[in-house]
Amino acid sequence: MPILTIESTCDETAAAVIGDDGSVMGDCVATQEELHEKFNGVVPEVAARAHLERILPVIDTAIRQAGISPDDLTAIAVADRPGLAGSLLVGVVAAKTLAMAWQKPLVSINHLHAHLYACQLACDKPIYPCIGLVVSGGHTSLYRLDSPLDLEYLGGTIDDAAGEAFDKVGAMLSLGFPGGPAVSKLAQSGNRTAHAFPRSMIHEKHFNFSFSGLKTAVRYAIVGPGQQDFSKIEMSDSAKADLCASFEAAVVDVLVAKCSRAVKQFGVRRLVVGGGVARNGYLRDQLTLSADKKGYSLVIAPMDLCTDNAVMGAIAMEKIKRGQFADLDLDITPGLQR
Ligand code: KG4
Ligand code: ZN
Repeated sequence: MPILTIESTCDETAAAVIGDDGSVMGDCVATQEELHEKFNGVVPEVAARAHLERILPVIDTAIRQAGISPDDLTAIAVADRPGLAGSLLVGVVAAKTLAMAWQKPLVSINHLHAHLYACQLACDKPIYPCIGLVVSGGHTSLYRLDSPLDLEYLGGTIDDAAGEAFDKVGAMLSLGFPGGPAVSKLAQSGNRTAHAFPRSMIHEKHFNFSFSGLKTAVRYAIVGPGQQDFSKIEMSDSAKADLCASFEAAVVDVLVAKCSRAVKQFGVRRLVVGGGVARNGYLRDQLTLSADKKGYSLVIAPMDLCTDNAVMGAIAMEKIKRGQFADLDLDITPGLQR
């Protein structure tokens, strides 16, 4: 019997129907990028209102695609953490209401654990034990995993997430929102050593990250300290490309170094990587090189399951197997979840 999964943690409204065997029977994602573009970032109030408009049509589409009736569902699962409060509320209230109306059990999903589960969905065999990196617009977190639901948090960003830094650099260069894909595209033709940007905490033994100093270094390379107005800056395309390439290299160097150190330190043979920034081609290439060189296996989430989606909510099946259901008084937990 299939389950319905719902995702609304940030600015994507998504629902999926997952079959017993893990097959994707229905999958609908409504992105809000166009609504947030003019603000160069996700505006929580705008996101919550857009979720409210879209959540029921998105759920309806996923169920219709699956060709089932709500009666056929075994459970309704929803991401209740972490994320923007208003965004989370819309998904959680929708899930609770449908669970009550349709008399179905409710399952809660940790969005970060789901990002890592996207890697399991790409593999025939279990990927555990492994080190897992979630690298997205809101998070840069490293874990040791013994199963989809048994995770030890090793460290994470102490300020900006890697994707957030990509988005801010994109905004400084007027590349639109989200900046990650545009920065990465420009970087392909740039010189990765043109700017000596900082690789914060790369040599420190812990598994925390910091990207705000890098963001500031890029800013100073564009406008100089004290200047605010990026719109008056004139830069050639090749200067922009060099900046993007050097920035991307700094982010990727740190991510690759910390991941390969974690793999070695915890004696596991596999690294798995999920989240929107895992779409980045240079990151994928450098991780692959490192894995080949150091002799561990690497699983990166499939491209369409890197950014927010409800298919990765298939992790709910693992909770159902363990009898882990949520009550109808399920509340949201917006804060950073380890
Ligand atoms: O996982 P996601 O959809 O949302 C969060 O849970 O945060 O990730 C979105 C983030 C954005 O910051 C976006 O700029 C970044 O992923 N991103 C990329 C690329 N594609 C998406 N960053 C770098 N290179 C890319 N190709
Ligand atoms: Zn996400």
